[in-house]
Amino acid sequence: VSFVEAIARKRDGKKLGPEEIAQFVNGASHGSVPPEQLAAMLMAICIRGMDADETADLTREMLASGDAWRLSEEVPEAVDKHSTGGVGDTVSLVFAPLMAALGQPVAMMAGRGLGHSQGTLDKLEAIPGFRVHWDRPGMLGLLERCGVAVVAQTEDIAPADRTLYALRDVTGTVPSLPLIVGSIMSKKLALGAGTLVLDVKCGSGAFRKTLREAAELATALRAVARSAGVACEALITEMDQPLGPALGNACEVRAALEVLAGGGSKALREITLRLAEEALVLRGRDRQSSRTDLVAALDDGSALQAWCTFVESHGGDPGPEMLVQPGRVLEVAAECGGFLARVDGEALGRAAVVVGAGRRWRDDPIDHAAGVEVDVRLGQAVRRGQTLARILVGRRSLDEEKLKARVAGAFSIRDEQPDVPPLVYGTPEDLVD
Ligand code: URA
Repeated sequence: VSFVEAIARKRDGKKLGPEEIAQFVNGASHGSVPPEQLAAMLMAICIRGMDADETADLTREMLASGDAWRLSEEVPEAVDKHSTGGVGDTVSLVFAPLMAALGQPVAMMAGRGLGHSQGTLDKLEAIPGFRVHWDRPGMLGLLERCGVAVVAQTEDIAPADRTLYALRDVTGTVPSLPLIVGSIMSKKLALGAGTLVLDVKCGSGAFRKTLREAAELATALRAVARSAGVACEALITEMDQPLGPALGNACEVRAALEVLAGGGSKALREITLRLAEEALVLRGRDRQSSRTDLVAALDDGSALQAWCTFVESHGGDPGPEMLVQPGRVLEVAAECGGFLARVDGEALGRAAVVVGAGRRWRDDPIDHAAGVEVDVRLGQAVRRGQTLARILVGRRSLDEEKLKARVAGAFSIRDEQPDVPPLVYGTPEDLVD
């Protein structure tokens, strides 16, 4: 069948067969299907969805589009962690050195910014000299030297995902369950760590906004991992506001450093601790003593020390003074007093992209200095004129007034104190009742 027919079938809500899915995935990895047809199929999938068979076929084909590194054969104890995407989601930058501080190896194939969310690789590249491109022996060398490897997808790992990820980023087709499952799990299984902890974000700053959507995604991701023999848990966590105080690249590295030094954002610290604890439990450790050890590593300087070793072994300079600073800072103030009742996380993420923290089109250069910092959290009392957020302006030329209005519009202030969502909703089972 011609690929146009396959697109039309999905457009009309029909189920795609394994050959059509293989044609789509091969077309993405070999360039045999033009980008406009790939984009049309992505949109059709995004709108019409895929059932469990199609999602499994998609993931399998995306995985088979490249090599498998089978990391667990060499480093069976290595743990991987992945987020489904949010804003102020600085967790990986804290998680990796924190686990290394406890002697727990971490191997991650991280991503770049996607849609309104910022990516771990872009953040790490804000560190002068930090190298994210490593091959398999390089990654194994990193694990041996410092117990942490955070690397970019290579040419040979899930090449279909690299093409589709970049296309989804600029075509409004990110928030689709089968596309997220195929994207995340093809990379995770290609890397092949034996243990995986998933942070499934839920709320206004996530790709899956409702608890039902997030639980569905958590269940689907975990099922694919477990059926491939990976020890996996998925925690659904709150993303109704930026997790940490910074949305961007250099600013998120600074936010991570504060947490690694024992202070910083309480929410970022807590979610990182919960995910790290979950990963250690999957590795067979006791929950309570894991928690105690993790907290101690943040508070006694050992996590920060592990950060320095991690950055240096990836070729970077760990000195925080080396991080690029914004040229200008625009304050966004509250127009009235009251309680912070709602934050549109996605709107803040998009503002961060516009100012330079993300890509507006495929090869758009990132400005590591740019971003948005948020000072307030849901439920907090705010005064009229109080700073809600700061826009960190770098090199891009902007309509500053429009951007300030956009950021201000992401905050809703009300007279009544709102209910504040919990930081962690739990595993899909915890949500059953
Ligand atoms: N992370 C990924 O790697 N892919 C997605 O689709 C979403 C988050």
